[in-house]
Amino acid sequence: MNSISVTAIYPGTFDPLTRGHSDLIARSAPLFKKTVVAVAASGRKQPLFSLSERITMAEAVVGHLPGVVVVGFDTLLAEFARSVGATVILRGLRAVSDFEYEFQLAGMNRHLAPEIETLFLTPAAEYSFISSSLVKEVAGLGGDINRFVDPLVAAALQERMR
Ligand code: COA
Repeated sequence: MNSISVTAIYPGTFDPLTRGHSDLIARSAPLFKKTVVAVAASGRKQPLFSLSERITMAEAVVGHLPGVVVVGFDTLLAEFARSVGATVILRGLRAVSDFEYEFQLAGMNRHLAPEIETLFLTPAAEYSFISSSLVKEVAGLGGDINRFVDPLVAAALQERMR
C-alpha cells in the first residue's frame, strides 16, 4: 500500500499505552508518511506515570514501527500539531459512547486549526472495551492485564501498584 504523503498526529494521555492504542498506531503507520504519537503532559487527568515514563514506555512499544515517533507536549494540541507539520489529527473510536466527546474535541480543534482534519480509526474488536483506567484498576487489584498491555507496560504497572 502506498502511504498518504501526510503527517498524522495521534494524541492521548497514554497512562499507560494499551494494546488498543498500539493497535491503532500499527494501523496508522502504513497509511501515513509519519505518525507522531503525542503524549499529553496531563490534561484533565492525574496520571499514574510521569510524562517521561509514558514517553519511554510508548517508544519501547511502538517506536520500531515505520514512520512512528513519540513526543511529549504540554501546549494546545492544535498548536502542537501545527508545529510538527501534522495535517491530520488521528483519534480512535472504540464504541458509540466515545462519539460525543470525540465530536466536541474534533469541533474545537477545527475551530482552533481549520486546516487540520480529524480522522477516526477503530481498533480491533478485542480491544474495543479497554481503557487505561480499567487496566490500572485491574492491575491494582492483582488481576491479569497481559492481554491488554505490552509485557513491558504490565511490569511497570505491577511495580507501580506495589
Ligand atoms: N484503545 C484503548 N483505549 C483507548 C483507545 C484505544 N484505541 N483510545 C482511547 N482509549 C482510552 C484511553 O486509554 C483513555 O482511557 P482513560 O480515560 O481510562 O484513561 C480514554 O480512552 C481517553 O483517552 P485518550 O484517547 O488518551 O484521550 P484523552 O482524553 O486522555 O486525551 C487529549 C485527550 C490529550 C487528546 C486532549 O486532552 C488534548 O488535546 N489535550 C491537549 C490540550 C488541548 O489542546 N486541549 C483542548 C482540546 S480541544
